[in-house]
Amino acid sequence: MNRTLLAQLEKKIGKLRTPFYAYDPQWIASQADKLLEALPKQARAGVRYAVKANSNLSILKIISNKKIGADVVSGGELEKALAAGFASDRIVFSGVGKTRDELEYAIQQNIDSIQIESVSELHQILELARRKSAHPARNTPIKSPINAPISVGLRLNPNLKVDTHKHIHTSDRFSKFGMDAPAFKESLQILAREPKLKLKGLSAHIGSQITDLRSFSMLFDWMRETAKQAEAQSGLELSYVSVGGGLGVSYRENEKPPTLKQYGAALSKAFKQCPWNLYLEPGRILVAPAGVLVSRVVQQKVQNRKPILVLDAGMNDLMRPALYGAHHQIESLRHSNVTRTELKKFKVVGPVCESTDVFSGNMALPSDMQVGDIVLIHNAGAYGFSMASQYNLRTLPAEYFIEDNSLRLVRRPGVISDLWKDEISL
Ligand SMILES: Cc1ncc(COP(=O)(O)O)c(C=O)c1O
Repeated sequence: MNRTLLAQLEKKIGKLRTPFYAYDPQWIASQADKLLEALPKQARAGVRYAVKANSNLSILKIISNKKIGADVVSGGELEKALAAGFASDRIVFSGVGKTRDELEYAIQQNIDSIQIESVSELHQILELARRKSAHPARNTPIKSPINAPISVGLRLNPNLKVDTHKHIHTSDRFSKFGMDAPAFKESLQILAREPKLKLKGLSAHIGSQITDLRSFSMLFDWMRETAKQAEAQSGLELSYVSVGGGLGVSYRENEKPPTLKQYGAALSKAFKQCPWNLYLEPGRILVAPAGVLVSRVVQQKVQNRKPILVLDAGMNDLMRPALYGAHHQIESLRHSNVTRTELKKFKVVGPVCESTDVFSGNMALPSDMQVGDIVLIHNAGAYGFSMASQYNLRTLPAEYFIEDNSLRLVRRPGVISDLWKDEISL
């Protein structure tokens, strides 16, 4: 995020309770426009935003206003996407462990496609298709006509090696995601003879934070050929192929992911004559650079001669560093001109009682950093708040939009009474 945007708000930020997330809504809107602009013109291409990246209602509304659809992975995400205005015929439902309850709800809402990840899930949907019972637990209107076939997709595991962190690599043969070749074959055979289900498309998501365009080109070629073969072998006609998300952002200065234009050009090349709608399911690239986590230094210490800054934000607020050693650049808000400031390497940690609660082991920050200073943890708009928890009984952070030189609350900070409000004291 543009630092000057926040520097102008320094006084206001100083008065707020930290930690909190701040987002630049204009950046998100313009990034969505750029992505749509970069899509291949010859294909009927559409975007399904991966809601898991950031599911703040106000952010979902910005994205749904762009006529972008949603990729959801739980009943909760599906309900929230609908509440945010995503049209049900632009929603796809992925996920390796959808419950029966979630499947029933998705069927009732008549979404674009339930992206099936296993033969057992296919059988379950088939059974539901035969019954098409009313859902007893929810009072939302049922949109699906009783006799219409249920639209499904198959999420495939292409078994491609991708250069990214192993915890966000989803497409090797040991991964739990998607269908392998035998499951795919069996599913096609079932779908070819089953009038109650309509196979609309195939999808694959090979992993996240991918910065090498060759990985995507490999996937695009694989997807095109697999879709052609599937149509030829099954006699079924697909209406879409989805190449998932995964395009990376620049968390470090030397990290140079493909631009949206380069990514779009690779898609154009692979899908020159595309008989199908072409979907993408990006999350990170639409929101990561738009967000910062704002935090205060609450303690300072020196351990084994290493200066340590202890923040009031922890792994419960931003889990990525603890979960996969992810890097987030950290800056001091008070020091507007770091080129004229003497820098020192600090270990920057959170307050949570876990050794992995470390934002950086070696972050260059002004040498006169002190308790009370505010720091900006950059590129925190994706997989930040959406992964936050109340671990150590810490309240959830607030979320703000930066608008017209002010901060507008889009989610209230958690309060202590939230922490055990659902418990039944015996
Ligand atoms: C099925 C699916 N699609 C899309 C995405 C979005 O990935 P990214 O945020 O890397 O674009 C994910 C992320 O895990 C996913 O599981």
